[in-house]
Amino acid sequence: MPRRSPTRLIAAGATVVVALGLTAGCSKSAGDRAATKPLPQPTAFAECARCHRVEPGVHDVGPSLWGLSERRAGSALGYSFSPALRGAGFTWDRQRLAVFLRDPHKTLPGTRMLYPGLEDAKEAESVADYVLSLR
Ligand code: HEC
Repeated sequence: MPRRSPTRLIAAGATVVVALGLTAGCSKSAGDRAATKPLPQPTAFAECARCHRVEPGVHDVGPSLWGLSERRAGSALGYSFSPALRGAGFTWDRQRLAVFLRDPHKTLPGTRMLYPGLEDAKEAESVADYVLSLR
């Protein structure tokens, strides 16, 4: 009898782990599902559209913004980035993007993105969310 308790404890522990795994799995897949459908384009994106396209691999003055999520900065194939962006050494996420869009030149000195940045923090966040949903 006493030899069964540890087994039961382990079984209980495993159940908790599985339950946690399922919960984490659910929230992740919900996020992925949401991300497969691009968010509606915010009005402020009109400024970006002067230089950027959102179709995969279609570069304009600036690189295509498709598939930016979790991509290393300055790594889009077929676009010639500045050394500043090529050597940035980070991966794009919401935080990085929202900060960059407020003031590209302060965030990445030497970038060739000739754009002063979005003044409004909320606007920068909604543009970042939209761009990261393009995948
Ligand atoms: C006047 C043209 C211009 C405008 C306007 C502009 N960009 Fe850019 N953008 C560029 C150029 C050029 C680059 C490449 C910069 C470099 O190589 O240093 C770039 C680079 C980027 C990158 C880095 C891409 C990568 O693959 O690492 C992001 C992200 C970006 N722009 C987003 C935006 C967003 C969002 C807006 C609107 C708020 C915007 N840009 C407005 C020209 C522009």
